[in-house]
Amino acid sequence: MRWVAIVLTALAVLAGAPTDRALAQTAPAPASQPPAALSGPPTARTSATEADFWRGVRQGIEGRVSIPDAKAGVLIQSEGENWRNIRNGPLSTYGVWMLLGMIVVIAAFFAVRGRIRIDAGPANRSVVRFNAIERFGHWLTATAFLVLALTGLNMLYGRYVLLPAIGPRGFATLTLWGKYAHSYIAFAFMLGVLLLIVLWIRHNIPNREDLAWLARGGGLFKKGVHPSAHKFNAGQKLIFWAVVLGGSALSVTGFYLLMPFAFGMTIHDMQYFVVVHSAVALVLVAVIIAHIYIGSIGMEGAFDAMGTGRVDENWAREHHDLWLAELQGKSRPQPGHDD
Ligand code: HEM
Repeated sequence: MRWVAIVLTALAVLAGAPTDRALAQTAPAPASQPPAALSGPPTARTSATEADFWRGVRQGIEGRVSIPDAKAGVLIQSEGENWRNIRNGPLSTYGVWMLLGMIVVIAAFFAVRGRIRIDAGPANRSVVRFNAIERFGHWLTATAFLVLALTGLNMLYGRYVLLPAIGPRGFATLTLWGKYAHSYIAFAFMLGVLLLIVLWIRHNIPNREDLAWLARGGGLFKKGVHPSAHKFNAGQKLIFWAVVLGGSALSVTGFYLLMPFAFGMTIHDMQYFVVVHSAVALVLVAVIIAHIYIGSIGMEGAFDAMGTGRVDENWAREHHDLWLAELQGKSRPQPGHDD
């Protein structure tokens, strides 16, 4: 098989390719259809056998290598081309349409409905909505997610948006640091999601009120409509479960991607994880854009819940009447108590 190495080396040198890899590649292992050139001694049909050989390489045939990295036995991984086409094609295209679509829907909603006000006006008496640990859990998850979202979007779209604006040097530096941030801040996000699960899961079990809330559009579309809700309404429960399930999917796929080829993973597995990771991330970003809107400019009095931890009593009555009733019931002295 010496002649194969010689042909390979000569072609690699002619093509200007690095020769060490080419030299390391010796005869391919038997595959379903070994190229004719490899199944017998050299014949006079040199060009035809070369073509067969390179067709085999192009189709991902695996050879044996003398270096420790057995993966180098595959010179061309053909599925890589499919993966690249999916990532740079439908995944990126549908992703950008989804995000822009969400922004347009929110802008239209704001134009028609305006800011959702406290219909009864502020009572100027407040109640505690979220304690310090709950707010810590929320902002840990939120800030980590924002960094991950921005650095992740840069990996998908930066070359189209930032590269032309800041040039290759700036873009390379930014993307490198962004990649480090993405890898390490992921752990803060996982911790945040875990904390939110522990703190809030019991408030997010679906119940009968959720159906009524959904049937009335959460009262979001009409002034003066206030369907009943406990601590979290059905819309918030959907956000919670999107964060928990989406966050878990991102964590598992992201964890594998942090450790390439570990746990017996093939490059094909990693390509699959990249597509799932990116698709879930894009959906979650779209959901969170809506969440940030309603938690800030979209609704009067909402931000205070995560800012100071206290909300106006009338806000609580209009959006979480059952929760307020439970809260006030609990804070009243219990019958039979002396205090
Ligand atoms: C920086 C932008 C953000 C703002 C202004 C914001 C604001 C808020 C507010 C005000 C609440 C409490 C609503 C209430 O009292 O009923 C809340 C709850 C929540 N936030 Fe955020 N948030 C932001 C980002 C995020 C991010 C990035 C995530 C997760 C990835 C997240 C996950 C949650 C969850 C799961 C809840 C509980 C369910 C709900 O109220 O929807 N938040 N947020």
